[in-house]
Amino acid sequence: MSSISKAYIDKDKEKDKKDKRPGLAESIKDPEFKRSFKRIMALIFKLFPVRATIVTITYMISVVANLTPAIFMQKALMVIDATWKTGDWAAAQGPITTIAIQTAAVLLTGAICQFIYSQILITLTQGTARYIRNEMFEKMERLPISYFDNHQFGDIMSHYTNDVDALRMFIGSGILTFFSGVFGVVGTVCVMFYYSVWLTLIELGSSVIIFATVGFLGSRTARYYKAQQKQIGVVEGFIEEIMSGLKTVKVFTHEPIIQDEFDDLNRELFYVSRSAARCMGVLPPALFNIGNIIYVIIAICGSSFIYYNVPNLSISGLGFSIATVVPFLNMTKSLTGNIGALSRGINPILKGVAGVQRVFELMDEKPEADKGDVTLLACHSDDCDRRSWKWEIPEKDNENTFIPVRGDIQLENVVFGYKSDQPVLKGVSVHAHPGQKVAFVGATGAGKTTITNLLNRFYDIESGSIKYDSIDIKDMKKDSLRKSLGMVLQDTSLFNDTVLENIRFGNPAATDEDCIAAAKLSGADDFVEHLPRGYQTMIQSDGSNFSQGQRQLLSIARAAVANPPVMILDEATSSIDTRTENLVQMGMDNLMKGRTTFVIAHRLSTVRNADLICVLDHGKIIEMGTHNELIQKHDTYYQLYTGAFELE
Ligand SMILES: Nc1ncnc2c1ncn2[C@@H]1O[C@H](COP(=O)(O)OP(=O)(O)OP(=O)(O)O)[C@@H](O)[C@H]1O
Ligand SMILES: [Mg+2]
Repeated sequence: MSSISKAYIDKDKEKDKKDKRPGLAESIKDPEFKRSFKRIMALIFKLFPVRATIVTITYMISVVANLTPAIFMQKALMVIDATWKTGDWAAAQGPITTIAIQTAAVLLTGAICQFIYSQILITLTQGTARYIRNEMFEKMERLPISYFDNHQFGDIMSHYTNDVDALRMFIGSGILTFFSGVFGVVGTVCVMFYYSVWLTLIELGSSVIIFATVGFLGSRTARYYKAQQKQIGVVEGFIEEIMSGLKTVKVFTHEPIIQDEFDDLNRELFYVSRSAARCMGVLPPALFNIGNIIYVIIAICGSSFIYYNVPNLSISGLGFSIATVVPFLNMTKSLTGNIGALSRGINPILKGVAGVQRVFELMDEKPEADKGDVTLLACHSDDCDRRSWKWEIPEKDNENTFIPVRGDIQLENVVFGYKSDQPVLKGVSVHAHPGQKVAFVGATGAGKTTITNLLNRFYDIESGSIKYDSIDIKDMKKDSLRKSLGMVLQDTSLFNDTVLENIRFGNPAATDEDCIAAAKLSGADDFVEHLPRGYQTMIQSDGSNFSQGQRQLLSIARAAVANPPVMILDEATSSIDTRTENLVQMGMDNLMKGRTTFVIAHRLSTVRNADLICVLDHGKIIEMGTHNELIQKHDTYYQLYTGAFELE
């Protein structure tokens, strides 16, 4: 072994020793288990009432069909036993043939039922997984942005992959294996009573050890599985984070540190998974050996009963004899086997419920509140421009009021913090009249992007008010409000599709010509035309095959094609060279004409021609006015502006 790999193993062993602390998973209590189990079962029956019922019925028939041959065998043995004494084999042919046909019929019915339920079960499994994925996706789209501030993307992703996989195992194999164990146990016990009540009671008394073992190991495993599902989410979250920041990791040569961090998380996953597997792994040999002990106990008791002529008590009315004790011993094996099946079913059930619990956690998250009832009547066709957009305000007498969308936006004393005890905006007031260009400038972290987050209600303000055409934005339906605001976000985000479709994202009703016109307006057309496949060029993984500036131009085109009455441009041209920016500026001025526009820019030349410039500092507007007014004031803006010039 090389010294490097030895050192690695030694290091790993050391970490292993350090990490052998008692129970990460032990500490995880799981009162939700039963509730989630019932909920997923109810969901399956709600989604597929007929199919689920057919599966239940055919499944039960097949279980019964698998149990009855033992009774037919007993009958056949009795006929053979009687015939052996009389020697009249011709007379025995009839009953034996009847028993054989009955057995074949029952087994065939069982086989047909098994085929039916296993086929339907596939639809049930995949259908439920599909429904859950859809529901989660729909829910995810309705969750407030703040949810994503607090959850890792990789962890959310693992709901769709790992947790749904566990759910599929739960439905596809867990429940049936488990219930086949349950029915098998119940059926075997019934057959046992058929042979002998006394032996059955001894069997059940001894089986308490088996049930206790299954119960003990099962409950421990459930906790470990929950911890395992959670830890998989953490590991996937970490991988996702590192993948998206891979360049930064490489630039700072953080690979060894990242490797160590990953190693820690991965080891944690290893321990909980190993503990779960160990608990479950102990079960089959334990059951096998306990089963053997019970087998011996029954053999000793049964033979003693025959020897001492103990009177039997049974449904069949048979006394103790080899013909009752030997089949009973077979039943003993069968009971242990069924308890084994039950325990095998527990595994995917525990894992599945652990996954389902996480899925339900996401599905039970409170969606973004949207109590507003003012809606936007907009049209995107050629023959109506944005000036014909209207707000529809519902009135009590059903005579709704319509007011034209003008783009008048007024913030009054707005107070907001991402965390309630840390205010970011401390009483911001600004009035953007229709068609005005309002600029926010100020230092990094002053709260400029936060204002735009509040305008489109990614977050709700704590106090004060934001009015849009004199309507409080809280009274507007969120999608109406957002449709009326064209936004170019500070972080550009493009999708895995063609350039054209990415522009059309701003307005699905836009024609190809509209998209190209928007690209011309924003200045994107110039570089798109030079791409080998032009507007049909595919954009890969969030636009990694485009430069930052090109991505910004496409984002502007996307906002332009929506043709909204109000535009918000957050550092829309920050990565574009100054010469191109001048060209874009002309396009943007066209774009902004007649529209209320909020512009955020560090490059102050971009906002020079604004009707109103607000200088933001630590969440407060400290200066307000036109460029000339603020320059004359010789205060913060003047310093920023002249400083910026010096920098340029
Ligand atoms: N999602 C968030 N959760 C908690 N705090 C946040 C969040 N987003 C921003 N903040 C905080 O709010 C403050 C204002 O941030 P904001 O993004 O509005 O700054 P900005 O003026 O746009 O800065 P920049 O010029 O760098 O874009 C910062 O202190 C920041 O740390
Ligand atoms: Mg910002």
